[in-house]
Amino acid sequence: MRLDRFLSEMGKATRRETALAVRRGEITVNGAPADRPDLRIDENADAVVFRGERIFYKKTVWLMLNKPQGVICATEDARGQRTVLDLLPPEERRRGLFPCGRLDADTTGLLLLTDDGETAHRLLSPKYHADKVYEYRAARPVGEEDCLRAEQGIELSDGTVCLPARIERLTPLTGRITLREGKYHQIKRMFGAMDNRILSLRRVSFAGIELPPDLPEGAWRPLTDGELERLTSAAGRGKMHKK
Ligand code: URA
Repeated sequence: MRLDRFLSEMGKATRRETALAVRRGEITVNGAPADRPDLRIDENADAVVFRGERIFYKKTVWLMLNKPQGVICATEDARGQRTVLDLLPPEERRRGLFPCGRLDADTTGLLLLTDDGETAHRLLSPKYHADKVYEYRAARPVGEEDCLRAEQGIELSDGTVCLPARIERLTPLTGRITLREGKYHQIKRMFGAMDNRILSLRRVSFAGIELPPDLPEGAWRPLTDGELERLTSAAGRGKMHKK
């Protein structure tokens, strides 16, 4: 791989910045100053040091974010609304990360961000049965018959039939709902079909990854090795790489 591509993929420098850093002698490869931005390197074996920092090659990136209200799940927004990417520092934003699935602007909680399109696609496919667990607050009490309807697959107002979902009631107005698919505004529409209304939603788990209680709203962190293993098995494919 070219040195400038390596640094760009790792979110450290644009190609122009790499060219400048080479001229300034700010990059070494295996201890020797890099003399060209298009120098061929072995990204898995060569020791690249950029401005004093050893840069390791990581194939894909997986981050978790505790999404606050009012930011949208998109990579950019034409109307200038804040997106989840605006909550990340510039070096993470530069990697071309995107949200793995969507939460509504007013939904909070666990959101994964990645640059691994293939695995994200699998995790979001209903075929892979990746569970998504949400805590809800409803406007009206949720009854036993609502839980049964959800288990049988609720029909939405447009005729779409949802896959079976599990509702666990904590109080008459609050509880947890587990989905294995992610249709547009799905939970709000399901509650609408049950003559109810969602007042708040927070995602607490996705594909076996739990929202850690010590991650404040608006904060993010890379997935741990254990979390990546869980995602790997949920997506039914080989080993993924840690950031
Ligand atoms: N269902 C919804 O209605 N909204 C979300 O954000 C997620 C699931």
